[in-house]
This record gives sequence, structure tokens and C-alpha cells, in this order.
Amino acid sequence: MSGSPEAAPIGVFDSGLGGLTVLDELVRRMPHEHFVFLGDSARCPYGPRDPQEVKSFVLEICSFLEQYQCKMVVIACNTATAAGLAAAQLALDVPAVGVVEPGARAAVHMTRNRCVGVIATEGTVAQGVYPDAIRHLDVGIQVFQQAAPEFVRIAESMLDADADPAMPAEERFDDVEVAHGYLSPFHELGIDTLVLGCTHYPLIAGLIAQEMDEGVTLVSSAEETAREVHAILTRRGQLSDAGGSVEILVTGDDVEKFKVIGSRVLGWDVPVRRITLQDDERGCIE
Ligand code: DGL
Repeated sequence: MSGSPEAAPIGVFDSGLGGLTVLDELVRRMPHEHFVFLGDSARCPYGPRDPQEVKSFVLEICSFLEQYQCKMVVIACNTATAAGLAAAQLALDVPAVGVVEPGARAAVHMTRNRCVGVIATEGTVAQGVYPDAIRHLDVGIQVFQQAAPEFVRIAESMLDADADPAMPAEERFDDVEVAHGYLSPFHELGIDTLVLGCTHYPLIAGLIAQEMDEGVTLVSSAEETAREVHAILTRRGQLSDAGGSVEILVTGDDVEKFKVIGSRVLGWDVPVRRITLQDDERGCIE
């Protein structure tokens, strides 16, 4: 890596595969950037964990990413953003952005009847970050939240099944009932916009859309987050205009799964390595 700030990578992380939906938008908008994506799959899911624990994971990952001298860090996980964005911003010398504020902004721009639903992990819902962020932008908007933790499992399992076509049919999830349970309460509330407040959820947007009334728009944070990262780097004069690469690091033993899903989401074969966060020398263990 050259010493110029434009050539420095952008660090992106999530608890698992969900953050790839954000990475995809980042790469689309900034194809000449170098991205180091970390999936903390050994500790996924983050959603049911105590926010203090998630905050400690965020700080550990930020410290790990410092080895790469990133020019910016993107927390591509709502749960980690809710628990640890402020701590990351205090700890890092470079800008750190999360996905909650961009997702909230996209919903505020989108809603016509000012009635917005949010689905997210238990951790994100309990901390109330979406209602706060949405009402910070428009206090007149009504926000209804629903924790949908099983959607993380369903997304990860669907992808397991996709990554392993030999998986028997009975091991694939029958998830329509779960989706109905989470989403049917929104019908009576009259929302016209539903925020996918977990970066795993866009991976099962088809399942979610099936359960929603026709006029409801699904909003994810990915595009708005990419726009924000682009704006920050542009203002700082740190956008790269040549080259471009993606490297995926995982803490779990699911290198193959990340290879299959990563290449599907991004559209080309992405290198994936297993790392341990405690190690230095870029944590390489294989
Ligand atoms: N992708 C994470 C998020 O956006 C949640 C998945 C998990 O529970 O770890 O909140």
C-alpha cells in the first residue's frame, strides 16, 4: 500500500454476511477503492448479545483494522452501530460511520404518509436508535418497531443452503410463517415504508416483500451509507481514482461460504481469509 491517503483502504465490518449488502453498494459507488471487509462470523449473531459486549467487539475490530491504516471505517451492522458507533468514533483517528443514520434518512425521504415501520435485531430495537434517528430528522413521523431476530438465522441458513446445494430439503427453512408472524402487525398500522434495520435482511427481501402490502416500500441503509462515505471522502480529498480491490476476512470457519456468497453478491471471485482478531501481522492463521 502506498503512503498516500487516497490509496489507503476502507475498513468495513459486520457480524456476518449481512454487511456484504453494504459492501456491494460501496464498491458500486467507489470501484477504485480498496476495501477490507471483516465478517465476525465466529461471534454471529450480535443481535441477542448485551450491548456492552457488542461495544467491546466493535472496539476490538476497530483496533484490528488499525493495522491496515484505513482512511475510514464503516460499521455495516445496525446492532454494532447502535452499541458501538460512538465508542468507535472516540477511539479512531479516522471517520467512522454506521448504517442507522443513513437508513433513517432514506426512510424519511421515502415516506409519504409519515408512518414508518422498522424491523431489526432485538439489540437494535431495544436501544431505540431508529425511532430516535428518524424523529431527529422529522419529529412528525410515526415509527413502529418490530424485533425480527429469526430473520438473521433465516438469511444465514438460506445462504448456507445456497452455498451447499447438496443440503437436504428438510434442512432448508420453512420461513413464511416466521415472516408472517413478524410482519402482519404492520398491516393495521398503515405504514408506507419499512426499514430493513439489519444488514442481513436485504438478503431475504423477497420473503419480506411477499408479506407486505403492495404500496409499502422497503428501505435498506446500504445505498445511503455508500453515498455518505463517498461524500466524506470527496470532501476530504481522499477518493481513490485508480485500482480497486476487495479482501474479505472472517473470524469463523466459514471461508468457503463467504467465498460463494461474496462472489455472488459482488459478482466476481473475492479472496477470503480466516483470521483471528487477537493476532497481529494482520491476524493471518491460514
Ligand atoms: N447484520 C447485523 C445488523 O445489521 C445483525 C446480525 C446479527 O444479529 O449479528 O444488525
